[in-house]
Amino acid sequence: MAKIRETPYFGVYSDGENFYTLNAVSGTSVYGEVLVREKDREYRRWNPMRSKLSAMLHKKLKNFAFQERTEVLYLGAASGTTVSHISDILTRGRIYAVEISRTPFVGLLKLAEVRKNIVPLLADASKTYTYSPVVQKVDVIYQDIAQKNQVEIFVEAAKECLRENGTGYLIIKAPAIDSTKKAGEVLKFCMTRIEENGLKICEKLTLEPFDADHGVLVIHK
Ligand SMILES: C[S@@+](CC[C@H](N)C(=O)[O-])C[C@H]1O[C@@H](n2cnc3c(N)ncnc32)[C@H](O)[C@@H]1O
Repeated sequence: MAKIRETPYFGVYSDGENFYTLNAVSGTSVYGEVLVREKDREYRRWNPMRSKLSAMLHKKLKNFAFQERTEVLYLGAASGTTVSHISDILTRGRIYAVEISRTPFVGLLKLAEVRKNIVPLLADASKTYTYSPVVQKVDVIYQDIAQKNQVEIFVEAAKECLRENGTGYLIIKAPAIDSTKKAGEVLKFCMTRIEENGLKICEKLTLEPFDADHGVLVIHK
């Protein structure tokens, strides 16, 4: 296997084919991902079929906002597959991980026991007032909730919790918003709603071949 090297994305490594993050909890795999040891370092392979953020990197994402001290509000954390890789990257930052469903939340709680930069919050992302007092202002909002009103939820969360000059990643599942329209039309509708609310779209991605269903908007406040 080729040597694992740094990439232009902070805290992300590559062997030329796969992306990796440095494992913050040595010897532990979170979702069955491959662990690779090189010298005194252990890397976790970042599966683009399981994590849309990894798929975005494979699709050459231009705006990567995660740094050592970044504070992130993650809406739709599930049991923490993607959260765990962000947790590897933000060695001095924090992830407020919001999940509505109790079953995946149990997994998220377990993850947060060993990864101290994850703050798990059992909450409905649409009820911003239930989590904004804890979260306050963050540098990044990452939203992956596949809900009909997901754009409104994002806009509200950005108003309350995103710092000026902050970055948002809005993952859009077009059929969840309107199954009668083509994905491109739904994406256009979402973009208009975002811009009407004073936010700027700086990048647009689709995730094929990793995920045929989802588009991503990268947003600046
Ligand atoms: C596609 S999964 C997220 C996968 C996760 N982002 C990852 O990459 O590891 C969507 C998650 O959003 C959660 N969700 C849906 N609506 C929500 C809401 N209103 N508030 C919080 N979580 C929500 C679902 O329960 C589900 O766990």
